[in-house]
Amino acid sequence: MRAVVYTKYGSPDELRLTDVPTPEPQGTQVVVKLHAVSLNRSDWECLHGKPLYARIGGLRRPKRRILGSDIAGRVEAVGPDVTGVEVGDEVFADILDSMGGFAEFACVAERVLEPMPTGLSYEEAACLPQAGAIALQGIHERAKAGQHVLINGGGGGAGMYAIQLAKLAGAEVTAVDNAEKLDFMRSLGADHVIDYEREDFTRGGREYDLILDMVGHRSVRVYRRALKPGGRYLFVGGSVNVLLRVLLSGLVPARRRGKKLRVLAVRLGAKHVTALVELIGDGTITTHIDRRFDLDEVPDALRYLGEGHVKGKVVVTIP
Ligand SMILES: NC(=O)c1ccc[n+]([C@@H]2O[C@H](COP(=O)([O-])OP(=O)(O)OC[C@H]3O[C@@H](n4cnc5c(N)ncnc54)[C@H](OP(=O)(O)O)[C@@H]3O)[C@@H](O)[C@H]2O)c1
Repeated sequence: MRAVVYTKYGSPDELRLTDVPTPEPQGTQVVVKLHAVSLNRSDWECLHGKPLYARIGGLRRPKRRILGSDIAGRVEAVGPDVTGVEVGDEVFADILDSMGGFAEFACVAERVLEPMPTGLSYEEAACLPQAGAIALQGIHERAKAGQHVLINGGGGGAGMYAIQLAKLAGAEVTAVDNAEKLDFMRSLGADHVIDYEREDFTRGGREYDLILDMVGHRSVRVYRRALKPGGRYLFVGGSVNVLLRVLLSGLVPARRRGKKLRVLAVRLGAKHVTALVELIGDGTITTHIDRRFDLDEVPDALRYLGEGHVKGKVVVTIP
């Protein structure tokens, strides 16, 4: 089968489209013929090996040589112990643990597969798992009517869903991203938008009830300053330094007017996006697919992401 492979951390130039053996399912494994794979920032991070958490499993060299984690396709073959799916079933999944989505086939554990949501295309389903789980657990399960919510990185995959879910909850939403994405974030419903290259949201004097941060790289002190009394800051992604400091701050008993800073440890998996599937199904929430790429264009797709152009999601389609 054809797959996009890399053997050392670096830029998209490290990626090669090459022939590798088509996997054979063992035990409870399932081989899925892939039709769509969406890109996530985690692909970019694992390609570069930065932040450090992206090197889990391969400190010097990548252990998982095929990136791509949010997949949708059709079951091609099943291992002898598989009981829940059959050849021909349409499925989608988050395979962040094993990766392997930038390929014609992926071999995955049966337990990570979910049936394709009715009415959604492969492309739409592939956009959901990681971005959707972050947005649901960061916003949908927390934001309340009347609250002031800030989404840092609002123009990306998780941000796209997070803005819409926060508006649905009745919150006043401020979304932060680069200048190219401001109109896009407004179109999703953001009440206020901030260009991170021109303005630091922690210095504007505004305070928030909830901050969802996809790209945390400031000090715990300034995040605390940007919170209202009783407010909550959730670190989703960003620098390891900030991650550790946020974790440490969680050990200190709540003080300073009840402001809490936490790392959002997302429960990943397609089974965790059911609520979003329903909201997309009835038209309440939309998925914006910025661009589509072929399998041999995965390096270009990742460059497009890394250069800061992607509004919402980009998808690799495999006919
Ligand atoms: N906590 C968990 O359990 C968990 C689980 C899975 C994934 N994650 C993490 O979740 C994060 C979110 O991913 P995603 O897929 O939504 O990413 P994404 O689609 O790339 O979106 C991130 C957005 O943030 C923007 N951005 C970059 N620097 C910024 C800054 N200084 N201020 C404000 N915005 C900035 C990016 O714009 P540019 O294009 O300009 O860079 C991009 O639009 C990733 O870091 C991933 O590792 C966490």
